[in-house]
Parts: sequence; C-alpha cells; structure tokens
Amino acid sequence: MMNKILQAFAENPTEFISGQQLSERLNCSRTAVWKHIENLRKEGYEFEAVSRKGYRLLRKPERLDMAAIMKQMQTKTIGHNLIYIDEIDSTQTKAHQLIAEGAAEGTVVIAELQTRGKGTRGKAWHSPKGKGIWMSIVLKPSIPAQYISQLTLLSAVALCRTINKQLGLNIGVKWPNDLLIDGKKVSGILLESSSEDDRLRYVIAGVGISVNITKNDFPKELHDKATSLQIESGKRVDREQILCAFLLQFEQLYELYLEKGFAPIRSLWEALSVSLNRPIEVHSASGFISGIAKGLDESGALLVTEDDGQVKKIFSGDVLHK
Ligand code: BTN
Repeated sequence: MMNKILQAFAENPTEFISGQQLSERLNCSRTAVWKHIENLRKEGYEFEAVSRKGYRLLRKPERLDMAAIMKQMQTKTIGHNLIYIDEIDSTQTKAHQLIAEGAAEGTVVIAELQTRGKGTRGKAWHSPKGKGIWMSIVLKPSIPAQYISQLTLLSAVALCRTINKQLGLNIGVKWPNDLLIDGKKVSGILLESSSEDDRLRYVIAGVGISVNITKNDFPKELHDKATSLQIESGKRVDREQILCAFLLQFEQLYELYLEKGFAPIRSLWEALSVSLNRPIEVHSASGFISGIAKGLDESGALLVTEDDGQVKKIFSGDVLHK
C-alpha cells in the first residue's frame, strides 16, 4: 500500500494529489490514506498537506553520506570503526552485542532509524529516520566504576561545545546531561556500562541529537518539551558535519580526562550549565530536595544548598528548574 502511494507521488513529483484521488487509486478510505501518509512521515518522508488540494511530496528520507564522513573525520581512533545501520531497535543494544564479539574502544554504531530508541529511566527516545544522529560510542577507560557519571558530564560538554561552535546556538546543559535551548531538549545522552570488581569493563555512550526533525515530526506530547537543530537554527543542518565535529571534540575531551582527571571537565561543565545558582527541585532516589544548585563536587555529583544552609550531594535524579 505504501509503495502504491509512493508510486503515485513519483508519477506526479511536483504536484498535489488529493486525498480523494489517493483513496480511489488505493481503493481505501480517506482516513486510511491519512494513516499511510503519517506512517510515511515516520519513515522520513516529508509531505505538504493543504486543504482542498491534498498532499505533495517534499522530500524523501535522507541517508548519511559515508564518503563525506570519512573525508571529514579528523579523530585519531574514535569513529574509525564506524558501523552504519539503516534500521535497528537501538544502537545501544547493537553496541553491547558488538562488544561481546570483541569490538574495540572507539567503535561507533550509527543508525538512520531506531524503532526502540532508549532514553534515560526507561523512557523511549523518538528517533525518526534520516533526521537525527542516533549513535553509540564504545569506550573502555581504566577508571573505577563509580566515575561513570563523569563520562556522562563529559559527553554533555562535548556535545554542547560542538553545537554552539558549529551553529552558534545558545545551548545550555541541565544537570547532568540534558541539552536545552530555551528550556526545550535537543539532545540526550544515555550511558550504559558493565563492570567487574568495581572496574569498568566497558561503557557505551549513547548520544541522540535531534538534527532535522520538524515540528510535525514530533509527537504532540513532545511539542512543548523537545526541539531540533533545524527548528532552532531555521535551516537544514548537515548531519555529517555535526557528527565529525562532535566525535573530534569528544575524543579531545576524553584524552584530556584520561590524562588530567575530571577537574578540567568539571570547570567546562559548570561554565555551560543552566542549572547553577538557580532554585531547583530534584526528585532523586533518596527523596525530594529543593534548593540552589551550586556546582559539582570532584566526583561529578551536583551540590545543592537547601533553604536551611545544608549542602546536599545529588548523584542521580530529575532536576526541575523553578
Ligand atoms: C535521554 O533520555 O535523554 C537519553 C537519550 C539517549 C538516546 C540515544 S540515541 C542513540 C542511543 N541509542 C539509544 O537507544 N539511545 C541512545
């Protein structure tokens, strides 16, 4: 059925086709036509819909240009082993599997579409086809397992610096790693790891960047909460360029971290944070805390001064800006 619709648009590449014409051609109801169009939108097709005129195909799903990526890649190791997949449940799952098969540090898995993109705390991550950077980076640092949150903060710094530099957007980091533009989330980071006797065996840094997602592509419930680089910059954004710039920035900060420890990353994070010196509320495993966010401690925990002057350390939780 979807193929029949695509064929109709291929025969009339620049024209509107009415819902009525499509329903006759496909021998189905107008509602069914609308549903097929919505499914194609999820696949990365873009349509213009005008009442009384119908639908016009504006764009087919984009694919990452691997040759352009290889040409622009300036890293020493990260991303040299780049596994490109068209469609997958989650690049995280694939990365776990590749590690079990012996994948080395710096291996990157990137997909055009994730059907079960994973967010933090068991939430789903919206990952439409050809519209974002959905990737997982394999890391094998020799650091104690309890320092994993430092890598979360490092990833957020790398991403924030990349986007600010490449697009001149004013992105801020909400603790620990949400990248926000005017309070809306443009990217998310999910770290998964495996450890043995307090030593990390590996870490998978999952990075999702909503690049060319349009407002229509986001489900309604995300309209107030999520945005994309295209929406914010007002133009289509080159995914290959953002990917290569990010991997380079990430590698440089990762090297700095392995050599000098967390202190330089902590200062960079604090400079980019939108959570500091503001009243915040945190829902954490140890309960509800309200106060002023003051900075990070040497492990990466958030320091919050409560109304009575007590300083609390937050290791994980959802921060709300008041
Ligand atoms: C968050 O909830 O903020 C974290 C979102 C992380 C999404 C990325 S997309 C690539 C990688 N694969 C996944 O399934 N999730 C991460």
